[in-house]
This record gives sequence, C-alpha cells and structure tokens, in this order.
Amino acid sequence: MIKTIEWIGEADGHLRLLDQTALPTETVFLDCETPEQVYAAIQRLSVRGAPAIGVSAAYGVLTGLREAESQDRAAFDAALDKVCTYLAESRPTAVNLFWALDRMRRVAGEQTGAEPLAVRNRLLEEARAIEIEDREMCAAMGRFGAELLNQGDGVLTHCNTGALATAGDGTALAVIFAAHEAGKGIHVYADETRPLLQGARLTAWELQQRGVPSTLICDSMAAWVMKEGRVQAVITGSDRIAANGDAANKIGTYGLSVLAKAHKIPFYVAAPSSTFDMSLESGESIPIEQRKSIEITNGFGKQTAPDNCQTYNPAFDVAPAENITALITEKGVIQPVTTENVKKVLG
Ligand code: MRU
Repeated sequence: MIKTIEWIGEADGHLRLLDQTALPTETVFLDCETPEQVYAAIQRLSVRGAPAIGVSAAYGVLTGLREAESQDRAAFDAALDKVCTYLAESRPTAVNLFWALDRMRRVAGEQTGAEPLAVRNRLLEEARAIEIEDREMCAAMGRFGAELLNQGDGVLTHCNTGALATAGDGTALAVIFAAHEAGKGIHVYADETRPLLQGARLTAWELQQRGVPSTLICDSMAAWVMKEGRVQAVITGSDRIAANGDAANKIGTYGLSVLAKAHKIPFYVAAPSSTFDMSLESGESIPIEQRKSIEITNGFGKQTAPDNCQTYNPAFDVAPAENITALITEKGVIQPVTTENVKKVLG
C-alpha cells in the first residue's frame, strides 16, 4: 500500500500526504511545510478519515514550530498554542483531531523547564507514537471484528475506513481485511458515498488493491440489496462516539443503521478509543460539519444542478446506540451498546 501520511526528516522536517482527492486515477503527494498547508489539506479532504486527521494534525503541529531554536520557552509555548488552536478549526466532527492536538499540548506542558528544541524533539516523538499506536489499534480492531463475521457473509460498508483513513489498515475496513485474510470468503458491498464518493473513489480502490471481492453500489441501492438478502452484516467507522455509544459517521450512516434494524441485519461500528468523546453524554451534542453546496451541485466534475439551487450538505449524521449491535474497539467488543459497557471496555 502507498503511504497515506509520512513525516519526512527530523523535528524541522515536513509532512507528506497522499492527496486523496486525486484518487483513484492519480497518485499525487502533497508536501506540507506550514500549518496553513496542513489545515488546507485537512479541510479539502486531501487527508481524511478520523484517525488520519488526528495523526496528520499531530505532525502538523511541528510545522508551526520551525523557529524553535531562536525562541525562548514562553515564545515557543505561544507558538504551540497558536498552531494547535489553528489546526483545531480545520474540521469540527472527528474528535481524533482534538484528541491528538490535546495530547501534543499535554506532552509539551509536562516538559517544565526544558529548552524549546528539546520540547520540539519530544513532540515529534509523540506524533510518531500517535501514528504507531493508531496502526496497532487498527490491527486489534481487525482481530476482534473479524470474529463477528461469518463464512460467506455479504458485508455492506459506507465511506472509506481503510488504510487511507488511518495510519494502519483501517477501522471497518481493517475488520473486512482481517476476515478476508482469515479465509472467511466475504463479499463486500461498498456504498459509493455521495456527495464526495469516498466509497467509490477510495474504498472500491482499496478493496481491489487488497484482492477483496467487492461490488460498488449507489447509496440509494442499500435498502434493496439488503431486501434481496445479499447482506449479512453492515460495518462502518465513526468520527465521534458519545459516552452512550451514539456514533457520528459519514452522512448516510444513520439511514443504514435504520435499514439494518428493519432487515434484522447486525450493524457494527469499528472505531479506536481515540474516537470516543466521553465528555458528551449522547450523540445529540456532536457537532456536525456543514460543507459547501458545490459538493452537491458539481459533484462529478460538472454542474449537476441548476444555478442558484438551494442545498443542504451535512457531512455527517449520528447512528443511535440502539441501532448499533456492537462497537468494535482495540480494547474489545462493546455489546450491548450501553454507557456502562462503553466505560467498562474502554476502562
Ligand atoms: O469526510 P471524511 O471522508 O473525513 O469522512 C470519513 C468517515 O466518515 C469515516 O467513516 C470515519 O472517519 C471513520 S473511519 C476511519
């Protein structure tokens, strides 16, 4: 697999991102030297997917600390605060972004009395640790989740939750890859995922690369594909999970959770602990990103709606805990999905 996120060099290095907006037809890399470039890459979805956003932001912090050598500690701390505050505004829903930035701030805060250069080196170590841990969490989710899939299952998924969305094999796609590699003979139905087609452009591409049998469908076909008995499990990722297990994910996920329930199909959400926001009691207070109309009106590289057409473009919705059969985390499977069980498994 091509590397989605790579830090090049030492603490004064830069962030190389695979530009996901160019896939599946072109492989283009973006070299981000400044916080502005990292911010823009996150906002325009060159790098996307909750864990990948968190890892990129952690490295992105380093791009705002280039002047470290020449500064005193107070100025360094001010620069750190500025870059973290700035990057936190790039996208609102995936909590991994805030989780990673808070972790970088905390680590710097622990280095009382250390020289700016030493703190910067420590921050690079922390960003690397965030990346490595994410890879390990993906592998663990794959192992736990694969157990839930049965021989010959049809598995429906939404958006992109694979190596492009994380530092490892993915969240929901890690489960799919692990089940495939275990010889379970699964067949994946990938929703194309309007408006930005992460399913068609990225998931179908990743599944092909890994040799997983798959079929691409339009989002509007999910109900019928379930009714026809082709799907035995639905599995998605998440951008933020509240303490009660309500899970925000790419727009369309709520609908899938309702459909799965109606067809008595298990609905699984795979997400690492970095995606849980225990400060929110329920999904009602998860901030939902609103994106530009042009994503709907010019979705396929050409105008597909009349001029001045009014649109509504929420990028995420929330699947309620009651519709989720189980949450798959790196620490284990949470089932049934209750606040008590979330706390128990996450510790
Ligand atoms: O807008 P995107 O492409 O960043 O949305 C991504 C998703 O909704 C994923 O399903 C989610 O981040 C979880 S998986 C890594």
